[in-house]
Amino acid sequence: MKDFVPQWVIEAKRDGKAVSKEEIKELINRFTNNQLPEYQMAAFAMAVYFQGMTNEETLALTDAMMRSGDTLTWETLSRPTADKHSTGGIGDKLSIPLAPLVAACGVAVPMISGRGLGITGGTLDKLDSIPGYQTSVPVEKFRDILERVGCSIIGQTDRLAPADRKLYALRDVTGTVPSIPLITASILSKKLAEGAETLVFDVKWGSGAFMKTPKQARALAESLVNGARGAGRKATALVNDMNQPIGAAVGNALEIRESVEMLQGRGPASTLRLVLDLAVPMLTLSGVAADEAAARALLAEKLASGAALDVFARMVEAHGGNPRIAESPEAVLPAAACVVDVPAPPETADTPVIASVDAETVGRLVLLLGGGRRAVTDAIDYAVGADRILAAGTRVAPGDSLLRLHARSKQEAEELQTMALSAFRFKAS
Ligand code: URA
Repeated sequence: MKDFVPQWVIEAKRDGKAVSKEEIKELINRFTNNQLPEYQMAAFAMAVYFQGMTNEETLALTDAMMRSGDTLTWETLSRPTADKHSTGGIGDKLSIPLAPLVAACGVAVPMISGRGLGITGGTLDKLDSIPGYQTSVPVEKFRDILERVGCSIIGQTDRLAPADRKLYALRDVTGTVPSIPLITASILSKKLAEGAETLVFDVKWGSGAFMKTPKQARALAESLVNGARGAGRKATALVNDMNQPIGAAVGNALEIRESVEMLQGRGPASTLRLVLDLAVPMLTLSGVAADEAAARALLAEKLASGAALDVFARMVEAHGGNPRIAESPEAVLPAAACVVDVPAPPETADTPVIASVDAETVGRLVLLLGGGRRAVTDAIDYAVGADRILAAGTRVAPGDSLLRLHARSKQEAEELQTMALSAFRFKAS
């Protein structure tokens, strides 16, 4: 583009004027190819943070970022494709039972997942807790596993939306992460490049989430759905509360175990409900179920027959892990050296009902146990975390276990008892 002057585009956005599709494309192309200095891209991101973007601008940004690298297509697969994206949460292991369950119903799930961000865990870290499971596979193998097994969960490759990787790193250190158009383009550029025909977004709000209010979450959900539909995909979004942890386990291997339990027909009913709520639109929008009732019946059948568990075992095996995990996860997964109960305090004699369990505190607890990263290069201890976390509404008596800490040593577990207890609020009835 001959008449492209980066500072004129930055100034236009700063002053709330429209920026053209061509200008956005040029900006992203130059940034990806190291022909635009980071200070100009950071200034543009800050202008977007304050001025927002029109729908057209967000679509143009998404499209330019998606085209900055490889894009995958699945026309040669024999079944429809669908994926879901979660904005992240504490104990959010939903992708792990969801992908095999949806695949068992006849929809292929090509899922490219991320690592943990801050206190929110990442699906990739959870899968890494399965000995042998390779999250980095060539695209040909990804395709082969999808055809043979029906689902494959892998990590982002360097060639998928490289503009996002660069821009995200810049946003992270320039105070420009919480901007709905920038988050939309970031998430969508990766998801569109991954090529699934149907996308279901799970947008979280609350103490353990990125978006702190339902209003913000709804705005992000709407923006993601508009963007995905604008790019020709079928899409919908669910907005879910992330004030309490999801399920009764938080921590990488412990969450894999809970996921297997769900596929075995055990596991927390409330968590399985979330999995099913996400699976329903993946099936209906893909056309394998005519309506919600048909989708729920199909999902129930695939769970009860063990077909979904079998797909999970085959996915793990195809990625190099031990399929025995589907029968006895404890025999395959790493275990912490020390497991300690956190007892309900004496005050529960008068206030025996758990009023709330703070997701953010539980997330911090697991990070301090070694289950998350303090720096990007930190190694994770996959075995640590918390399980048997009682949910809000449960009645307890003094001394009952509120949760179990899985720690590297008794000392570490004891040091974190007070913090673990502080996640719980109690009420009389
Ligand atoms: N997740 C992403 O991938 N990008 C964002 O900007 C925020 C969350």
